[in-house]
Amino acid sequence: MIKNMVGIIGWPISHSLSPIMHNHAFLKLSLDSWTYVPLPVATSPETRLKEAVFGLRALGFKGANVTVPYKESVIPYLDSLTKEAKNIGAVNTIAVTDEGKLVGHNTDGDGFINDLSEHQITVADKSALILGAGGASRAIAYALLSHGCRHLTILNRTKTKADDVVLKLQENFNKVMIESGQLHKESLVNADLVINTTSIGLNENAPDMPWDEGVAFSKNQVVYDVIYNPKLTRFLQHAQKYKAKAINGLGMLVHQGALSFEIWTGHKAPIESMKQILRTRF
Ligand code: ATR
Repeated sequence: MIKNMVGIIGWPISHSLSPIMHNHAFLKLSLDSWTYVPLPVATSPETRLKEAVFGLRALGFKGANVTVPYKESVIPYLDSLTKEAKNIGAVNTIAVTDEGKLVGHNTDGDGFINDLSEHQITVADKSALILGAGGASRAIAYALLSHGCRHLTILNRTKTKADDVVLKLQENFNKVMIESGQLHKESLVNADLVINTTSIGLNENAPDMPWDEGVAFSKNQVVYDVIYNPKLTRFLQHAQKYKAKAINGLGMLVHQGALSFEIWTGHKAPIESMKQILRTRF
């Protein structure tokens, strides 16, 4: 009998791979009482996000993921936030406690770090360059600095947004060099790790890349794109041309999901199985 429900709140939600990934994980671990459902919450004519979030508690849900466009706007409806979620300013996972409290977590940043670990990449004492200054950028920046990254640059089309992200990070990491700049004008920054968090390269933007064609990579660099569809964006193809290590965002998707799974169920997530089921979708 299903008695442990979780889901994903967002809009649109029909293309989300999270239901497939989590339900496969429940099946793999024989967690038969668990199920994961899409929870579409329309943005217009007016959003009922508050009702949806409070509905988790009313309906006895154990929790939910939160995705675009609600990762930030969900915060006022939660009872408490973890340190990460508070500092990042975004929530991708809600846990409902036995007492009915709604706790906001953010597993995106640690999901990114765990994926790097799986590729035997450490961040302590490394330099990093992040392209973009949205929610994914903030989560990754916070995680990199928490794990000892020594120099971080954030470049964004709208430079003022990158400036704001950097100012907030400096409150927590005042001993690290953190800089902001304008995307495309300052893409020459040399860094051990270069991470694209913009949507350039995604689906209909696939022919574009957030990087100047004329700027090379080196074979010691790690180039990461949070995009996983297409599997190899033009940005990653460019990195491969110079023999840099190119990694797409599928692993981050799996690892952030695995951390949410563990928060809700208390069981270690079957990461390989989750990855395998997603690979069948591409
Ligand atoms: P997410 O939560 O996935 O990070 P987001 O908060 O909407 O998504 O952020 C999207 C990022 O992609 C932003 O940094 C955005 O730049 P702006 O702040 O200037 O809007 C960036 N982005 C999206 N489309 C872009 C484009 N065509 N060129 C450059 N940057 C783009």
